[in-house]
Amino acid sequence: MPRVFSGIQPSGDVHLGNLLGALRHWVAGQWEWDAVHCVVDLHAVTVPQDPAELRASTLRLTQLLMAVGLDPEVCLIFVQSHVREHTELAWLLQCTVSFGDLRRMNQFKEKSADADFVSAGLFTYPALQAADVLLYDTDIVPVGDDQRQHIELTRDAAIRFNSRYGDTFVVPRHRIAEAGARVMDLQNPTSKMSKSAGEAPGTIWLLDDPPAIERKIRRAVTDSLGQVRYDTVNQPGVSNLLDILGAATGRPAADLEEEYDSYGTLKGDCADAVVALLEPIRRRFAELEADPGHTQGLLRQSAERATEIASRTMGRAREAVGFLPGGNWGW
Ligand code: TYM
Repeated sequence: MPRVFSGIQPSGDVHLGNLLGALRHWVAGQWEWDAVHCVVDLHAVTVPQDPAELRASTLRLTQLLMAVGLDPEVCLIFVQSHVREHTELAWLLQCTVSFGDLRRMNQFKEKSADADFVSAGLFTYPALQAADVLLYDTDIVPVGDDQRQHIELTRDAAIRFNSRYGDTFVVPRHRIAEAGARVMDLQNPTSKMSKSAGEAPGTIWLLDDPPAIERKIRRAVTDSLGQVRYDTVNQPGVSNLLDILGAATGRPAADLEEEYDSYGTLKGDCADAVVALLEPIRRRFAELEADPGHTQGLLRQSAERATEIASRTMGRAREAVGFLPGGNWGW
């Protein structure tokens, strides 16, 4: 069965973009593929984190993934820092990709542009992401559109490593679903909805209650054209609402435009669809949150299963590179 792998950062909470662009595809894919999903806490520390908050949000994100519908009996959900091979392979891949490759990464450019402090880890981050994917002999990486470039770098890293040292890694490809691949900020519909938006009213969080969702969608920025058209260039706000409504109801956004002639009704239906989508998630999350020991127990078991897979791949990589056996962990 083909393997899928994907990850999500525990910095901040999960928003509607994460759900529509990635998580719901992970949930559907767990029945179809051999699915592995990772809470990438090592990625989160590329920018400073409060330790207590990071611990709490790692657990919370794991519970959110389950609340959304990932079933730990069906797929593997684990925490990245529980499997040491991620950092080890990241080093080999930092030595495989070039400085120029990393410098071209759009996400690095965006995240470093206004930062006072830019860690070296923020720059080499895509090599760690490549390690995540390659350790699990991944065939397919389901992501939102913003991760396209990172997955292309992962492919290039695998191909370059294989040609330098012999066949070691499976070369993966990304899968970016059309609907919901790029959910935009409700207040600024030319920027993607993101965690860094903080408490901004343009971001819908998975645990927002119905009044908050309705308020945010009702106040979403549209335009003065007064017509409902799917046109991301001239009507980005309206198109984003159509996209969200389409993704939440499983209908193509472009088909929906004919059904609306006012922004008010479009916003009303969009809010109803999002409330209906998020309500069961909020309920399930509350149950899981009440029993943190249960989630921690699951994570211990999944760390073992993930380590089994990752250590086999890492062994192949060490051998391929030419490291001398004799390490005190059995290599
Ligand atoms: P992260 O944590 O920023 O986002 C997790 C997933 O959500 C998608 N996404 C969106 N999709 C649609 N619209 C949006 N506005 C939106 N914002 C985020 C992302 O594309 C992603 O699929 N570097 C990654 C995490 C990562 C990873 C990996 C992913 C680490 N290792 C290996 C795949 C494979 C990240 O920061 O995602």
